Amino acid sequence: MGVLYPGSFDPITNGHVDVIRRLARAFPKVHVAVLSNPDKSSWFSVKERMEMIRKSLRGLKNVRVTAYEGLLVDYAKRIGVRLVARGLRAVSDFDSEFKMALANKDMAPAIDTLFMLTDKKYAFLSSSLVKEIALYGGPLKSFVPPPAERALRSKVKERAAGKSAG
Ligand code: PNS
Repeated sequence: MGVLYPGSFDPITNGHVDVIRRLARAFPKVHVAVLSNPDKSSWFSVKERMEMIRKSLRGLKNVRVTAYEGLLVDYAKRIGVRLVARGLRAVSDFDSEFKMALANKDMAPAIDTLFMLTDKKYAFLSSSLVKEIALYGGPLKSFVPPPAERALRSKVKERAAGKSAG
């Protein structure tokens, strides 16, 4: 049975990697799916995000990295997966995750949501936090895998160059 692990992954963090590794041990196939949402102001394109995820997960043979548009449940049906996994960091995640899981259940009763607790090492970690740290040149090693660290550093340079040019 396969499991779908969706998210924005802008960028992938060590918290995501830890959840994916554990899902890959528990399920024969893990579909990591990047949301391609034109309304969301992401730092990285879907292609860049998928590339970072692929490079960060080398060696995990049963993980497939994809992208989707539109409703998550429609994508799950399209690829024939009936289980969606989400990481839970702290109580603060619960409210929005609970609502999303219930809305998804209402729209697609055959699809279930599985919550996996994030390792306590990463309970505070988020993609927005690492972007802020990157913006001010802070240390990223313990927060993101090396491909994401490189991509963050070059994106910060790009943004700085863009700003000074404009
Ligand atoms: O990493 P994120 O931003 O917490 O992930 C949220 C994501 C991408 C899983 C969720 O927003 C999503 O799947 N959006 C697509 C539209 C959808 O199906 N929304 C859920 C119904 S409430």
